[in-house]
Amino acid sequence: MDKLTITGGKRLKGTVEISGSKNAALPIMAASILAPGEHHLENIPHLKDVSTMGRLLANLGAGFHIEKNRAILDCTKISRFEAPYDLVSTMRASVLTLGPLVARLGKAKVSLPGGCAIGARPIDLHLMGLEKMGATITLESGYVIAKAKRLKGASVYFDIPTVTGTENIMMAAVLAEGKTLIENAAREPEVVDLADALKSMGARITGAGESVIEVEGVNGLRPLRHVVIPDRIETGTFMVAAGITGGDITIRKCNLQHLDAVVNKLKDTGIRIRPLSGGVRVTGPERLRAVNAKTMPYPGFPTDMQAQFMAMMCIAEGTSVLSESIFENRFMHVAELRRLGADITIEGSTATVQGIQKLRGATLMATDLRASASLIVAALAAAGETTIRRIYHLDRGYERIEQKLVQIGADIRRDKE
Ligand code: UD1
Repeated sequence: MDKLTITGGKRLKGTVEISGSKNAALPIMAASILAPGEHHLENIPHLKDVSTMGRLLANLGAGFHIEKNRAILDCTKISRFEAPYDLVSTMRASVLTLGPLVARLGKAKVSLPGGCAIGARPIDLHLMGLEKMGATITLESGYVIAKAKRLKGASVYFDIPTVTGTENIMMAAVLAEGKTLIENAAREPEVVDLADALKSMGARITGAGESVIEVEGVNGLRPLRHVVIPDRIETGTFMVAAGITGGDITIRKCNLQHLDAVVNKLKDTGIRIRPLSGGVRVTGPERLRAVNAKTMPYPGFPTDMQAQFMAMMCIAEGTSVLSESIFENRFMHVAELRRLGADITIEGSTATVQGIQKLRGATLMATDLRASASLIVAALAAAGETTIRRIYHLDRGYERIEQKLVQIGADIRRDKE
C-alpha cells in the first residue's frame, strides 16, 4: 500500500488543470450498456473507480479500452447481467449498472453494496423506482435481482433527492414504454451530464437539473458520444489547497458555474476568486476567517467538500460550525485532523472547529476518498512533515493528485509501505 509524505508550509503557486468528473464518468460508462455498438467518451479521468467500472462492463461482455483520456466501450454484446460482490464492494457506484441492465436485458443481478465508511447508504429508493416501473425485485444471498420484460413509464417520487438513484431510474426510463416522471430528483451537474450523454444516444429527456425530470421512452438507442464535464470536487479541493497555503494558483479546464455554493463560502473565508477565460485564479489570504457551512443537495454546499473545508477551518481565525446533513458518520477525518493539533468537537452531525494558529505534522491514516483529500490539504499547511498512510482511496477519485500538487510547488512524495 502507498503512503504520502508531505512537508507543509509551501505557498502553492502556478497552474493546474482539472480532470474529467469521476461522478459523471461512472454513470455515463454504465449508460453505454443501453445500446449496442461502439461508444466514445472523452475527458475520462484515469482513476481506480473508472477502471473498476471498465472491469465491470467487461465482465458483462462489453469491450473496454482507454487511451489517453478517451474511453471506447463496445457494447454490441452484453451477455451477462451480474455485478458481482467483489466489484460492488470496492465501488458502490457499481449499482449504476442496475437500471441499464434491466432496460437492455430485462434482468439484472447486482450485489447489495452494504455499509461503507461514510454511513449505511441504502439503495431502497433505486429499488422502489424500478418496482414502480414494473420490475419484480427479489433479494437473494446478498444480491438484488430485478426482472421486467419491458419496463413501463411511471411516476417515481424520491423522499430524498438521491444522485445515483435519479441516474439509475433515468437510465431505466429511456428504454421504457411510455413516460416516466422523476419527482424530487437530484439536481447535481453530474445528473445533467448523464442526461446530455443519454440525449446523444437518442433518449428523450427534459428537466434534468431541475427537481422534476421527464423521460419519454424510446424503442432503441444509438451509441453515445460525449465529453465528460470537469470534476467540480477536484476543482474545489485545489481552491481549498490554494486558500489554506496562502497560495496563488490558476485552475484551468474547470466549470465555476457548478461551484456557486463553494465559491461563495470560500470568498467568505477571505479567499480571492477571480474568473479568467477558461479558468479561475485563486489567492489565499494572510489569515483565513472562520465561516459556518451546512452540506445540502445541489445547489447547496456539497458533502464531498465538507472534509476539505473543515481542514481549512482548523487554522482560520474564529470558530466555525459545520453541519453534515447528507451522510451520517462522515466525520472520520476529524480524529486525524486532531492528530495535527486541530481543535474540533463533534455533537451529532455538527462539528465545531475552533481555529488555531498552526497545525503540526504527524502520521495519519486516510479513511475514505474525501477524508484523504482533507488530510492532504491540512498537511500542506502543517508545520513539518506529515505522513498519510493507506491512501488507496485517493486513487479512486483524484487523477495524479500528488503530481499536480508538485507542479504548483507542494513538497509531496509517494512511497510504497
Ligand atoms: C453520490 C456521489 C457521492 C456524493 C453523494 C451526495 C456518485 C457516484 N457518488 O452518491 O460522491 O457524496 O452523491 O452528493 O455520484 N439514500 C437512501 N436511499 C437510497 C439512496 C440514497 O436513503 O436508495 C440516502 C443516502 O443514505 C444519503 C442520501 O440519500 O443519506 C443521499 O445519497 P445519494 O445522493 O444517493 O448518494 P450517492 O448517489 O450514493
